[in-house]
Amino acid sequence: MKQTFISQIAPHLGKKTIIKGWVYNKRFSGKIGFLQIRDGSGFIQGVISEKEVESGTWDLGNKLTLESSVIVHGTVTKHPRHEVYELQITDIELVHMSEEYPIGKKEHGPDFLLDNRHLWLRSNKQWAIQRVRNTVINATYEYLNKDGFIKIDSPILTPAACEGTTTLFEINYFDMGKAYLSQSGQLYIEAAIMSHGRVFDFGPVFRAEKSKTRRHLTEFWMMDAEAAFVEHDENLKIQENLISFIAKSVLEKNQNELKILERDPKPLEKIQAPFYRMTHAEAVAKLRKLGSDIKEDDDLGADDETLITKELDKPLFVEKYPAKAKAFYMKRDPANPELALCADLLAPEGFGEIVGGSQREESYDTLLTRLKEHNLPVKAFEWYLDLRKYGSVPHSGFGYGLERIVGWMCGTPHVRETIPFPRMLNRLYP
Ligand code: 4AD
Ligand code: MG
Repeated sequence: MKQTFISQIAPHLGKKTIIKGWVYNKRFSGKIGFLQIRDGSGFIQGVISEKEVESGTWDLGNKLTLESSVIVHGTVTKHPRHEVYELQITDIELVHMSEEYPIGKKEHGPDFLLDNRHLWLRSNKQWAIQRVRNTVINATYEYLNKDGFIKIDSPILTPAACEGTTTLFEINYFDMGKAYLSQSGQLYIEAAIMSHGRVFDFGPVFRAEKSKTRRHLTEFWMMDAEAAFVEHDENLKIQENLISFIAKSVLEKNQNELKILERDPKPLEKIQAPFYRMTHAEAVAKLRKLGSDIKEDDDLGADDETLITKELDKPLFVEKYPAKAKAFYMKRDPANPELALCADLLAPEGFGEIVGGSQREESYDTLLTRLKEHNLPVKAFEWYLDLRKYGSVPHSGFGYGLERIVGWMCGTPHVRETIPFPRMLNRLYP
């Protein structure tokens, strides 16, 4: 008989089938036993009754340890009122009897769970988070492809910084001196727009973040999108439409996961363009009223992001930051050259920054001046300057942090749970 995946069990109602998976949970009392089975696609309760099965099957059911791998035979039944399916077990084949599983039902601290991340991934909440992550990734590809963006892969080993030199990971590159792990593929996909018009990359990026916050990883996944002939306002529209599409996809595909995560789907239902907009100056004024000591020229700190988005029902673009606080490549606002034509997109419910983007400086001379102002090595950026010599165009782009978006969708405040194997200031294992 062919294996049925739990997520596809409905059409098998009333029939005999086989489920291949692991014993997620177990409860036996008297002559009846309940085995919670996980098969990767979902979870199902198997019911075993002493008088219905052979004595060998009943004994094996009793002996099974948590996380043992099994092939379970049975008949599919349904809860009389809810869309909940069960398996009336007729036989069990043991694949492997698990040793005593270290993650139990009692509460474990985060350090213990992170040390056992290779096992913790099996827990139902962690399972649900990775399913949502998969949806966010696929929705991103789907939306961008539909909107005319093609995927262009950017390199991970690079000769220079993209996002400031304080968070660069350095390595020795043979006899060529230092190389750096990419902080964002942006600069490279800027080159590709001259070939393809609209492009995006999606891959791991690296930041030697010395900050131990719930929003920072040293390795995380970024999607950078870049488009020729797109200016600041249109850049924001692309972002809000993309993020709205992602939220809609999660609501369509992950109701079960949201339930497991105890994530109220209502706030996600409100995520529809247009989003709120506020200038950096307005944000500073508002934050001061809310009790922050932020100064006029400051970037928003993590606490400020929480404070300003706590009560919001939709994401907020904070636009036009003081140019001094931002990266060298950002174009200045023609109406006020002290400001950058940029925006950070902050997620509601206190989640904070999920996207950073801007219009890019397209003038060769201005860009050269900016590189020097930022003390960046001009030689390493010659190729990037070239892009302003041969058919330069106004263009804009943005980058999102996958873990931050997944965390927001799942209602999981700490990004360490949203990536399979988190790397942080104090963690490289497993
Ligand atoms: O705001 P950032 O630094 O922007 C850039 O790197 C641009 N080059 C992107 C672009 O315009 N193409 O990073 C983009 C996003 C942030 O908004 C945040 O969501 C996420 O990446 N991010 C982090 N996520 C986890 N851990 C970290 N240490 C992160 N740093 C940034
Ligand atoms: Mg940023």
